[in-house]
Amino acid sequence: MSSLEIKHLFGLHGVSKSDLRQILDTAKQFRAVLDRPVKKVPSLRGMTVVNLFFENSTRTRTSFELAEKRLSADVVNFTTSNSSVQKGETLVDTLRNIESMKIDIVVVRHKGTGVPKFLAEHSNAIVVNAGDGAHEHPTQALLDMLTIEEKLGTLENKKITIVGDIRHSRVARSNIWGMTTMGASVTLCGPNTLIPRNKELLGNVTWESNVERAVQDADAIIALRLQKERMDDALLPSMREYRNFFGVTDKVLSQAKDSTLIMHPGPINRGVELDSDVADGTHSVILDQVTNGVAVRMSVLFLLSGGRFNA
Ligand code: CP
Repeated sequence: MSSLEIKHLFGLHGVSKSDLRQILDTAKQFRAVLDRPVKKVPSLRGMTVVNLFFENSTRTRTSFELAEKRLSADVVNFTTSNSSVQKGETLVDTLRNIESMKIDIVVVRHKGTGVPKFLAEHSNAIVVNAGDGAHEHPTQALLDMLTIEEKLGTLENKKITIVGDIRHSRVARSNIWGMTTMGASVTLCGPNTLIPRNKELLGNVTWESNVERAVQDADAIIALRLQKERMDDALLPSMREYRNFFGVTDKVLSQAKDSTLIMHPGPINRGVELDSDVADGTHSVILDQVTNGVAVRMSVLFLLSGGRFNA
């Protein structure tokens, strides 16, 4: 039976070290299941999960669906493009109608900050945040943390450098909260226009404006996607200029440790945030991140439902 303190997963801000440890350790067990010939366990048999995706997704939606199926849950997928949201139905009405069909867990991605918490307040289902606006993307950070632990053994005392569009990045926020709780130090680097106005709210991090200095001594470098869809103003002169100053290229990588890991949440703008040589090179663990995403989501779904459905 799960002993998580959290009842839903809205974000990693405020999540205890023991909850994070339990999620990561359980994910390691599910990661081993994924290497078996039969990659399925009965943990969520009889439960129904709905994936409510109001924003586009490739990795997260597919990964949640696979995780749910690997746990033997019944899965319903909802996307706005073919739903009654197009006819003006509200978020709460959408949820209440879906919940009336006896849903146990809601996985939600939405452009609005706080939507997962709002849905939890208006339903009896367990809610998991699959990305809310520029706020948090907790399962992405958990899979990043699992990948670093898998490759380096621990997050304790590791230096993690995050490069790019910090201002619009829910991935950066979740990683900052999760990784610093687990004992890592986080350095942030990006153009002035892509640094949050209230950057002091990002907690105990180091800021570095020069990417070559930022990657020195880094155990892992996470390049972030430029979130053009969330940029209201012209915040960058050009993609070429961004690449020249903040792209992770072979030249930038030459300043880092031989053992550094290259990570990216995807989707990658090749030749902008990461050169292809780097994205596909020997330091890259980007596809390991994707594999670990299934294990982490299995862990989160399993632990959050523990005791409530399996008693
Ligand atoms: N990393 C991530 O959230 O990717 P998707 O937008 O494809 O889900």
